[in-house]
Amino acid sequence: MLSQINLFLLPILLIGLAIIQAEENASLTQKLTVTLPSGDRMPVIGFGTYRLRGDSKVKQALDNALGVGYRLFDTAEVYENEESIGKALKELLPKHNLTRKDIFITSKVASRPESSGANSYESLRHSLTRLDTSYVDLYLIHSPEYFSHSVANGNFNFSKIRDETWKQLAKAQKDGLTRNIGVSNFHINHLAELLSNDHGVKPAVNQVQWNPEHHRDNLLEFCRSHNIALQAYFSLGGDRNKINLLENAVVKKVAEKLGKTPGQVLLRWAVQQNVLVIPKSLNRVHMIENLDLNFKISDEDMKNLSNLQNS
Ligand SMILES: *[C@@H]1O[C@H](CO)[C@@H](O)[C@H](O)[C@H]1NC(C)=O
Ligand SMILES: *[C@@H]1O[C@H](CO)[C@@H](O)[C@H](O)[C@H]1NC(C)=O
Ligand SMILES: *[C@@H]1O[C@H](CO)[C@@H](O)[C@H](O)[C@H]1NC(C)=O
Ligand SMILES: *[C@@H]1O[C@H](CO)[C@@H](O)[C@H](O)[C@H]1NC(C)=O
Repeated sequence: MLSQINLFLLPILLIGLAIIQAEENASLTQKLTVTLPSGDRMPVIGFGTYRLRGDSKVKQALDNALGVGYRLFDTAEVYENEESIGKALKELLPKHNLTRKDIFITSKVASRPESSGANSYESLRHSLTRLDTSYVDLYLIHSPEYFSHSVANGNFNFSKIRDETWKQLAKAQKDGLTRNIGVSNFHINHLAELLSNDHGVKPAVNQVQWNPEHHRDNLLEFCRSHNIALQAYFSLGGDRNKINLLENAVVKKVAEKLGKTPGQVLLRWAVQQNVLVIPKSLNRVHMIENLDLNFKISDEDMKNLSNLQNS
């Protein structure tokens, strides 16, 4: 329960892991990073690419995103945009005076029989080919079980499949195909199981749905206590949200009070709990707003927002 967490501790660094470094106010939160167990720095605010497809659309979005300061790009095998991202970056990095090492690329192994398990190492190699890069910064198991649409109701031992997938990812990290490995959509039991047989590498990140309507505060506590960075998707509301968060009265009231947009409030709500975010926008103004989270939501308003889960 969020109400049980000492809210005064929340803005403080993630124990042992997150050295959040605010550099400057103006370009402020775009430069916030957490330090992963590998020593790599991962941007707190990244750019999500779910449902962003097509060479020209991807290139335009990434051009704007790089221009306003995004350095993390989150993709996945199943987003079917890795090739477009690879092509775009090839052209855009020099344009923005950047090199590969200035950006952080996340991808994910698809949770389906042909991609995960024993095929995971090869899946990563295919992603690298599509992304036209020799490594990704972070590679995640997309889901603890197969995507429901990818298989008929088979009788799978997912515990075994997760273990095999993780073993392959750990090998890929040792071989330099990815700098860090992690998971997505994992619950505490999945994480505990993985930690009990981690093949020498602990997960650096768990990416989950995280917004005022959907948040598992005990998962955040668990991740914090195991130095696993929690990263949010659907911060502004997702497919399964019943509440339209951007139009919600509580969100809007907090936004008005702070002179911010509802979107900024929703992102700040996550970041203020040391949860990383990956908003997507095609609109340059929104892209900039989403990077500008240098304000504080009061403890009371944090609680009111979190309580939307119970409404
Ligand atoms: C930094 O942010 C504060 C409050 O958000 C603002 O008052 C101040 O003008 C900003 N400073 C710069 C240099 O942007
Ligand atoms: C890139 O660097 C060159 C030379 O240092 C400079 O002239 C140019 O304005 C820079 N472009 C960008 C987008 O920063
Ligand atoms: C699933 O696989 C694990 C090994 O990863 C094994 O310990 C467990 O007994 C298996 N479960 C079933 C139901 O076969
Ligand atoms: C938060 O909740 C309190 C009562 O629980 C209420 O007085 C206050 O107006 C709420 N704030 C917002 C921004 O909705």
